[in-house]
Amino acid sequence: MTPMIVSTAARPDLVPTTARWRWEAFFQDAMSLDEMLLMEAEATNSELMPTVLVLLEGEEPVGMVALCLDDLEGRPDLNPWLAGLYVADAHRGNGYGLRLIAELEGLARREGIDRLSLYTASAVDLYSKAGWSEVESFSKDEATYWIMQKAL
Ligand SMILES: CC(C)(COP(=O)(O)OP(=O)(O)OC[C@H]1O[C@@H](n2cnc3c(N)ncnc32)[C@H](O)[C@@H]1OP(=O)(O)O)[C@@H](O)C(=O)NCCC(=O)NCCS
Repeated sequence: MTPMIVSTAARPDLVPTTARWRWEAFFQDAMSLDEMLLMEAEATNSELMPTVLVLLEGEEPVGMVALCLDDLEGRPDLNPWLAGLYVADAHRGNGYGLRLIAELEGLARREGIDRLSLYTASAVDLYSKAGWSEVESFSKDEATYWIMQKAL
């Protein structure tokens, strides 16, 4: 079955799923799940920022990625951002991560965005495969993060 990608603006019923994924993967120490639900619900309006894309295998949501502003505090110069890339455990290794990255890049390009940024501690190689380059590193909570960018 060919997976398809939808936005949560088109499918707001997917917000509880994307909020739980994103909270479990990235935000457990920073906010409550209820706060995460409110943040994800913001992406269902008609504005471009933020937009959340969800990859569906049939009816089953299996991954997500977001386009947003201000993902890293104090660095508005790096706007806009690719953030929240997540693929459910059982579905990893099928190219869905790269597919979601490519879809988000296509959306941003069509909207006239000519450069995206992201930061990651764990997935530099994945983004390099998608043509992203490391531009800076920083340390936070004893981890080293890379800021990466791609011209669209
Ligand atoms: C990172 C993640 C999104 C990858 O999803 P995925 O669907 O398994 O990725 P893909 O199948 O598209 O992987 C494509 C390639 O990148 C590689 N890759 C995948 N995850 C990687 C990682 N974390 N680090 C380095 N390389 C990775 C794969 O081995 C694959 O390489 P290949 O084409 O040579 O076989 C998924 O593991 C995940 O959700 N992890 C938890 C959340 C997370 O870490 N998100 C990214 C943080 S910024």
